Amino acid sequence: MKDEQVRELLYQALETEIGGVNVYTTALRCVENDDLKEEWDKYLEQTKTHVTIMEDTLSKLGLDPNEETPGRKVVRTIGESLVEAMELALAEGEPGAAQLVAAEAVVLAETKDHQNWHLIGEVVSNVKGETAKILKEAWEKVEPEEDEHLYHTKGWARELWIESLGMKAVLPPPEEVKDVQTAIGAARAEKARKQMA
Ligand SMILES: [Fe+2]
Ligand SMILES: [Fe+2]
Repeated sequence: MKDEQVRELLYQALETEIGGVNVYTTALRCVENDDLKEEWDKYLEQTKTHVTIMEDTLSKLGLDPNEETPGRKVVRTIGESLVEAMELALAEGEPGAAQLVAAEAVVLAETKDHQNWHLIGEVVSNVKGETAKILKEAWEKVEPEEDEHLYHTKGWARELWIESLGMKAVLPPPEEVKDVQTAIGAARAEKARKQMA
């Protein structure tokens, strides 16, 4: 295991969560659908907790949560760009448009967040001792929530687009109705949408 790159992953994971708080805060200004608002309110609170968990995890591993790394800067820049894209859509004022941009911004942010936690899970399976214990504790709390953040929001983004195109959408999306937690479940939910629409 390359310790330096494990540290880089953990710092990027923290930065992704911090950026996630800003993405959800802005996305909640774009949202129009009440069910989606409720969903994102919940994800915002969970993401704030993820920031705390990641800061605690780094501290327990003897790492300074405020340390800057080149990778963190990149993650921060991407997060800021997602916020900027939503601000742009809000300024245009077209009904429904900012909500679509927000759903896509959340999917992009959560794709990175989900992969970070998947990779942390891989690290947990391959390290031993105190490091494994500390990372496993965080992973067990956070990872199931990341599945929901990504798969459910992907469903929302797809169905809101379908609705905007003037076709019959499934709202809330099948991923949410079926409480999808896995990639296989998400694929099944997407397949089932035709019967549900
Ligand atoms: Fe997260
Ligand atoms: Fe997330």
